Amino acid sequence: MPTTETLTFPPNFVWGAATSAYQIEGAWNEDGRHPSIWDAFVHQPGHVRTGETGDTAADHYHRVPEDLELMSAIGLKAYRFSIAWTRIVPEGMGRINPAGLDFYDRLVDGLLARGITPYLTLFHYDLPQPLQDRGGWPNRDTARHFGDYARVVAERLADRVDWWITHNEPSITAFLGYLTGEHAPGKHNPFAAVAALHHVLLSHGYAVQALRAAARHPLQVGIALNLSPTYPATKSAQDLKAANFADDVGNRIMLDPLLKGHYPEGFARSWLWRCLQRGLGWRPRQLIQADDLKIISAPLDWVGVNYYTRMVVRHVPVIQVLPVQPKGSEYSEMWEIYPPGIYDLLTRLHADYAQTNWVVTENGIPVPDEVAADGGVHDARRIAYLRAHVAEVRRAMAAGVPIQGYFVWSLVDNFEWAYGYAQRFGLAYVNFQTQRRILKDSGTWYGQVIRANGLPADG
Ligand code: FCB
Repeated sequence: MPTTETLTFPPNFVWGAATSAYQIEGAWNEDGRHPSIWDAFVHQPGHVRTGETGDTAADHYHRVPEDLELMSAIGLKAYRFSIAWTRIVPEGMGRINPAGLDFYDRLVDGLLARGITPYLTLFHYDLPQPLQDRGGWPNRDTARHFGDYARVVAERLADRVDWWITHNEPSITAFLGYLTGEHAPGKHNPFAAVAALHHVLLSHGYAVQALRAAARHPLQVGIALNLSPTYPATKSAQDLKAANFADDVGNRIMLDPLLKGHYPEGFARSWLWRCLQRGLGWRPRQLIQADDLKIISAPLDWVGVNYYTRMVVRHVPVIQVLPVQPKGSEYSEMWEIYPPGIYDLLTRLHADYAQTNWVVTENGIPVPDEVAADGGVHDARRIAYLRAHVAEVRRAMAAGVPIQGYFVWSLVDNFEWAYGYAQRFGLAYVNFQTQRRILKDSGTWYGQVIRANGLPADG
């Protein structure tokens, strides 16, 4: 819907776009990079709906200068990218690969030369396969190895990179990787999934320590969380209870340990936790050790919010919670489109975790974009989605929520995990045969938003 008023943002507001290593880089076995769990996963049949892999992806590894040009053409103030652990420490522990560090060193210098602020993510799902062979995230040692890897990256880049993200979406790593099996490493073990989540959070704590110790000046250290506001399907007390529980396991399971130093009570009452306490599966006494929650909840400079959709749930027996798809809503290829959800989420976050600064680290929509006869990509649907969400972010700021920036997912079309290349999220279209990039209408529109520092009156 076109806006009738100009929505201006504060002068230092950060407008960016985001990507992740496995989704764009390709070059999966070049210059000393070793396989991650995603390389192993995609090379087995049945894991990616389209049978595709990230072997080449958007070939970003060979196209950094071109992609930097694209960022300048849009006018990005910031670029969020992730580092492939297996380029830096190919086996996940021990030996360091200088060629990997050189690659990101060049990328960072290229960004800085263009006045684009780097936002560096240390982990975006791509665990080194040798660490998975030793048990992966359910193995506590993995958390220590992550801390060591964080130190290596910081020693090389913290002189020029101020903004750090330890993990992207810890509960996706843990629950899609070790419970539903939709993501690598494709396991189906609820106990391992809970252990994985705890160790991912612990590894975040170790990384925070390593980053602060390695840097010669204060860094802006944060983490990017997948958060969805939860709503009951009806006003019944049971559905309300289900929504609270979904909030516990969807949102507070990360927010509370990180920002309050304890796991949410609702989760602590769940059957899974009770099984763990009776010594079935993993024992919590082994799982959660004396100082873990202190390490996990070390003060952060900011927290990233990845928002795509909301969660509407109803009560059902046994599993307690069933997600429902509200009738009459608009849907993208993957999710319900619900812009007020980001307002509800951000205002609630501020109410419950008042001391925290927030950055929207991902927001975007999959559209089956095509190149039109005139050579352009006319993605009006993405513009409408982004405009509506940016307006809701501004509304949350007006309500007093300290939000420092907004990042579109994604700079370019890329490998969308289990969906392969079927889902396009980019501000720039990628022809995956030729690797040619075409700035979409949304990319041009976003550039106007950045230049105006807000939404122009005509939308
Ligand atoms: C997020 C992921 C990102 C991308 C988007 C669509 O959950 O962080 O890599 O897949 O979803």
